[in-house]
Amino acid sequence: MLNHRELFSLFPLLCKVRNPELAEKACNVWIKLFGESNWQNLEDIPFSPDKQKGSLVDHTKATMDCAFRIAEDMTDIYPISLDSDRILISAFLHDVSKIAEYSICDGDCVRTKAGRLYQHAFLGAHEALNEGIPPEIVSIIIGHTPQSNVKMRFLEGVIVKHAEAAVAEAGTDYEKLMRDELNL
Ligand SMILES: [Fe+2]
Repeated sequence: MLNHRELFSLFPLLCKVRNPELAEKACNVWIKLFGESNWQNLEDIPFSPDKQKGSLVDHTKATMDCAFRIAEDMTDIYPISLDSDRILISAFLHDVSKIAEYSICDGDCVRTKAGRLYQHAFLGAHEALNEGIPPEIVSIIIGHTPQSNVKMRFLEGVIVKHAEAAVAEAGTDYEKLMRDELNL
């Protein structure tokens, strides 16, 4: 069964979260959604059903790493302070709903009923709220997707949203896109 220790080893930046209670609550969201899913291994869950963009775990880890580094650089460059817990926990939870949005069926990843009915990230935001994650972080979870109409209210959310979008595109063959779509 998935536990906190396993999540801390999969996502080492959780050790940088200053509020241990917040990190524990965030882990509970992963554990609950995974426990209710039909996935056998957390690392089998793909970032997207077409499986071409790696695993959910790798995507989440990369989003945490990139968002954290952007925040570090920005606080070096600008006289601003950023809430690193807000960045790390919202990056950790931004796509957790995919555990429930996808399921495994005859070896294939398919969208669940909930995954088809609800806007992406809704389920993760819902579980995060139930677990007592602060609304500021929940608003970043729900607002990170282009499906959402929620404006980011925090610079931490803007950083996570754009780090996530860049990470999600890391495997895209832009030269092929140019050839196929623009005939260049
Ligand atoms: Fe997402």
